[in-house]
Amino acid sequence: MSESSFYVTTPIYYVNDKPHIGHAYTTMLADVLARSHRLLGEDTWFLTGTDEHGQKVQEAAKKRGVEAQAHVDEMVVRFQDLWERLDITHDDFIRTTQPRHTRVVQEILQDLYDRGEIYQAEYDGLYDVRSETFITEKDLPEGCSVENLPEHVKTIKETNYFFRMGKYQDWLIEYIEENPAFIQPDFRRNETLGFLRKELSDLCISRPKSRLSWGIELPFDPEYVTYVWFDALVNYISAVGYRKDEESFQRRWPCQVHLIGKDILTTHTVYWPTMLKAMGVEMPKTIFAHGWWLSGRDKMSKSTGNVVNPLDYADRFGVDALRYFLMAEMSLGQDASFTEEVFVKRYNSDLANDLGNLSSRVLKMVHMQCGAVIPAGSGEALSEPAAAVLWEQVQKAVTDMAEKIQVLRPDLGVASVLAAVRETNKYFGAREPWKQAKEEDKQPFFDTLYVAMEALRVCAALLYPVMPGKMGALRKQIGAGEGDPKVEDLQVFGKLVSGTSLPEVEGLFPRYQPPKVEKAKPSTQKPANVVTVEEISIDEFFKAKLKTATVLEAEKVEGADKLLKLQLEVGEEKRQIIAGIAKHYTPEDVIGKMIIIVSNLKPATIRGVESHGMLLAASKGKKLTLVTVDREIPSGAKVG
Ligand code: ME8
Ligand code: MG
Repeated sequence: MSESSFYVTTPIYYVNDKPHIGHAYTTMLADVLARSHRLLGEDTWFLTGTDEHGQKVQEAAKKRGVEAQAHVDEMVVRFQDLWERLDITHDDFIRTTQPRHTRVVQEILQDLYDRGEIYQAEYDGLYDVRSETFITEKDLPEGCSVENLPEHVKTIKETNYFFRMGKYQDWLIEYIEENPAFIQPDFRRNETLGFLRKELSDLCISRPKSRLSWGIELPFDPEYVTYVWFDALVNYISAVGYRKDEESFQRRWPCQVHLIGKDILTTHTVYWPTMLKAMGVEMPKTIFAHGWWLSGRDKMSKSTGNVVNPLDYADRFGVDALRYFLMAEMSLGQDASFTEEVFVKRYNSDLANDLGNLSSRVLKMVHMQCGAVIPAGSGEALSEPAAAVLWEQVQKAVTDMAEKIQVLRPDLGVASVLAAVRETNKYFGAREPWKQAKEEDKQPFFDTLYVAMEALRVCAALLYPVMPGKMGALRKQIGAGEGDPKVEDLQVFGKLVSGTSLPEVEGLFPRYQPPKVEKAKPSTQKPANVVTVEEISIDEFFKAKLKTATVLEAEKVEGADKLLKLQLEVGEEKRQIIAGIAKHYTPEDVIGKMIIIVSNLKPATIRGVESHGMLLAASKGKKLTLVTVDREIPSGAKVG
């Protein structure tokens, strides 16, 4: 077995349910882990799949009048398509109806039966139809008893097969106590230990075909099929070659981490380990149960109709933004709340404002002032104190991310990277590169740009497993090359090659403006037959000479919170104007933009600063937008 093999699994989902945000979450989490470990050069294997047997599937197929197999073949595509859409990079997708799985389940059953680990007995007791499980009186809801059963519980008397789970109780308790990493987080381990305080009974692992025929037939009694959980859990080993391909099995097993939701803790931390123990197979290293995504404060459920569909968000905000949100928002282990409001807030603050804004302000300046090539940072760029402090922050993010991925807290890793992004933004602003650019000695200016780009390079690489699409695009934009980042480059300053030409800048995360419900204003309209607009002749209109202009630089006017001072290029000519747009645009927003100005306006002095011309902007109520051009055209072009 290779020292550095990493095998991660998700639950295999019931194929009958439509995939929702919870399924998407566990699968994305596994994907982020798998991608991170692959980048580390580890021999990684990521398994997901579907759980296709059982009562519910049989009933759903019957309702539609199709064969169960045809039904699941149709349903499974919904999961497979979604994983493709969400950029999931699983190495294998197992379906429990595949012969590679059913054969292994049957072999295991036969072996356990032959060795007396499975026996036949009469069951006379309670059966919960809803959860398809045998229960005891103490499992009944409050107020119910054997004399007064709820609708979904029946008494049944039937012969079945049982797995001697009970005899492993003491071993399991000891194993869990001696291996604190086995069940995570700690409070979930305690939950399982609590469950194991009462006597552990044997597990009924069969269902008579007269009740349920859609399952894996017991090899030693064709009148029965296998209980769906005894079938499903085996997927984790059947998929990697147990009993079929010894080499593959040795390479992958034991699994590093089974990711599950807290709903299936007992099956994974009690049934599964005892099954493995009886088979003589090593235990998985860690079973990690994450918390629940809630809709606001409520459980998501089909009946209340508050289930979040991951596709809605992927379509509106992009797959990467959805992946980012899910990873950043849930502190692993705890429950988390999914609402559009929380989503938009995090999207706008972390992605549009911090990361998106940093990349666009840095890149625009490189494009405008350095001819769209990576500037030459000097060898001493990092000896400048502010740059040194920043680089330290960035390196902290590198260490944090590596550590937090190991302990399954990607939320904390991501938070540390975002802190580094905000520091870079601050560093960049504090260096006032638009002023440095005017100095005769351009080196400090180039250093500022180069240091910021290096910080961006590392942050983009750290976030790459979470947002492979957007961070791949950002890497290209900063000239870090195509393909996966290299881990060994993260701790080295100076990997970006000066002189590399950069592609066009594309906005990564456009700010999301929630549609405002406009308050109806009292009508100020005049009667229609009154002319309120003074009409002008075409000659009068052409008196104003409108021209295109490119914003080279922009900065705030001190002491005036509405004004920006812009340096423009209007054809051959350079000029300065003051514009009252600072409430709507930051300097970085406008640098590089092509705008329209009235070029023949008499110069004026505004707040002691000269303004030569006026730009055009459209405004309504509190909204304002600059008038710009639709296609590329040189500055100084005539408008009208
Ligand atoms: O239980 N929040 O399948 P399942 C977070 N087939 N995660 C959620 C969630 C939510 N609101 N809802 C679902 C089964 N999940 C069995 C598993 S494994 C051998 C067999 C995720 O379709 C979470 O991972 O009901 C949970 O454990 C899983 O989906 C349940 O999926
Ligand atoms: Mg479920």
